[in-house]
Amino acid sequence: MDLGLVGKVAVITGGSEGIGRATARSLGREGAHVVICARRTDVLEHAAAEIARETGAEIVPISADVSRGKDVERLIGETVGRFGRLDVLVNNAGTSQAREFETVSDEAWQDDLDLKLFGAIRSIRLAIPHLRVAGGSVINVLNIGAKQPAAASVPTSVSRAAGMALTKALSKELASAQIRVNAVLIGLIKSAQHERRWQAQGGPSLSDFYAGMARERAIPLGRVGEAEEVGDLITFLASSRAAYITGVAINADGGASAVV
Ligand SMILES: NC(=O)c1ccc[n+]([C@@H]2O[C@H](COP(=O)([O-])OP(=O)(O)OC[C@H]3O[C@@H](n4cnc5c(N)ncnc54)[C@H](OP(=O)(O)O)[C@@H]3O)[C@@H](O)[C@H]2O)c1
Repeated sequence: MDLGLVGKVAVITGGSEGIGRATARSLGREGAHVVICARRTDVLEHAAAEIARETGAEIVPISADVSRGKDVERLIGETVGRFGRLDVLVNNAGTSQAREFETVSDEAWQDDLDLKLFGAIRSIRLAIPHLRVAGGSVINVLNIGAKQPAAASVPTSVSRAAGMALTKALSKELASAQIRVNAVLIGLIKSAQHERRWQAQGGPSLSDFYAGMARERAIPLGRVGEAEEVGDLITFLASSRAAYITGVAINADGGASAVV
């Protein structure tokens, strides 16, 4: 299947590790030029070099903190300055913040909204003029808590529900410009954030740690997902083969969510 991504330009926020990195690899393999951003420059530059080596694609690292408006301006500006176009925006940067409501301060709420909601709002606003040119695509990486918030899941579940509303509203508003806006709702996927938790805890092997997580969450498919499985889904949604798909929020959760 030809995905029609050769020569397209994609920006992936949080592209140095986990799902973002797997998405960069997948888009690079399809012949796209990929800009990845993250805060830690050393990890970011190492990831870009490695993905470029693996895929033969042009992978450009730009350090940026997406919770800061000025950084997002620089990220989109430098991308368009370098490539003269922007076709795909993947809003992926984020980290889990799931706690009991009474323990979450105003500051923690604001930080989560700045990272997950305003990061996406600002990058989409700046990307729209460029996405209009050839009909582009936005993919927002969210959490299944957006559809099915659990107890002690804030502020993340609330920020993610806002991200889902943003996805649907913009899919309607931008459809006439042939800009598609979709979301992928993550359940449990192997990534750097889980590996950090595993290292901090000590104990069993990494594979036993993931097997334990899958049992604890009673994931119907019986395992934690691979970052590549999400990266390939995002790449498909970004491609011309998904040209009739907009305004959807796809669960990538091994069947864990009780809602469609
Ligand atoms: N993996 C899961 O099971 C799971 C579950 C639900 C939702 N998700 C969502 O899926 C997305 C990817 O998660 P992941 O598990 O792949 O995470 P990960 O392995 O921890 O990678 C996160 C990436 O985002 C970057 N990042 C974090 N904060 C950033 C900021 N303020 N500005 C720019 N980049 C930033 C990180 O680099 P730096 O730290 O260097 O900035 C890193 O490249 C996140 O939005 C996460 O909330 C994941």
